[in-house]
Amino acid sequence: MSGHVPVLLAEVVAALRPADGKTYVDGTFGRGGYSRALLEAASCRVVGIDRDPEAVASGAELARRYEGRLEVVEGRFGDMARILGGQKVAGVALDLGVSSPQLDDPARGFSFREEGPLDMRMGRDGTTAADLVNTASEAELARLISEYGEERFARRIGRAIVARRPFATTGALAETVRGAIPARDPSGLDPATRTFQALRIAVNEELDELDRGLAAAEDVLEPGGRLAVVSFHSLEDRRVKDFLRERSGRAPQASRHMPTPPAKAPRFRLVTKKPIAPGEDELRRNPRARSARLRVGERTEAA
Ligand SMILES: C[S@@+](CC[C@H](N)C(=O)[O-])C[C@H]1O[C@@H](n2cnc3c(N)ncnc32)[C@H](O)[C@@H]1O
Repeated sequence: MSGHVPVLLAEVVAALRPADGKTYVDGTFGRGGYSRALLEAASCRVVGIDRDPEAVASGAELARRYEGRLEVVEGRFGDMARILGGQKVAGVALDLGVSSPQLDDPARGFSFREEGPLDMRMGRDGTTAADLVNTASEAELARLISEYGEERFARRIGRAIVARRPFATTGALAETVRGAIPARDPSGLDPATRTFQALRIAVNEELDELDRGLAAAEDVLEPGGRLAVVSFHSLEDRRVKDFLRERSGRAPQASRHMPTPPAKAPRFRLVTKKPIAPGEDELRRNPRARSARLRVGERTEAA
């Protein structure tokens, strides 16, 4: 099983300021990179959450090493309040998206570079990518590829998928998507990238889950506690930015996601006015970090 190089690790740990005796939530445990760094930085406790049973299983060794200080739970970070059972915490870290072990294992169906079943589920249940592409209407496919993939050829791709389906494998779908796109991307990006991102987001309901996770973090953080979120594409980053702006009492920007004015008193202070990006050193070591952006908020005293 391959590992995962944690992204913006030093920055996330610095943002959370781990302290002895405190508890932190690592809401996207993965291979435990953030959890390990927090446990090393202070004599604290960590509750790791991941919806992927393979990630949870991989945490057993770390839980043994930090016995009594690390608990790894299978679940969604949107459910962290229930998972914590009323306990308040001093920090929450979310490192969104998929891990390297998920991306690199063709059997998980995330990769357009390798042949595998068209699955893309991070967890054990729910609709697979095959279910989605084989049953959704052309208009629905075009909508989600356009919205979640920010793909300008979404309508052509939706049409090509419906004409060629059913699909069972990643390779066949990737070929169809490539064939539907008339122009090469000047950046050299594989033409299937955006469509695969869109399907993954839809299959795992990632944006709704992010909204739930942000709201849940607000509930579980104690005053002075911090929320650190690493996102990997503009759809996620915009949501995190809008949430932190709105919950820290800044005038909401015109946004499709948050059309109504805040009903609750602000309970965050913005720690990062601008998102933190990886430095050149990290990008050299880990090219997968290139689109990562970290935003941080601090829970205030207000009720
Ligand atoms: C980018 S990786 C995290 C890597 C981790 N920071 C590390 O150092 O190993 C994202 C992980 O979050 C998990 N995940 C994504 N969305 C989730 C959600 N809503 N609830 C729980 N886990 C989630 C994925 O299964 C994946 O293992």
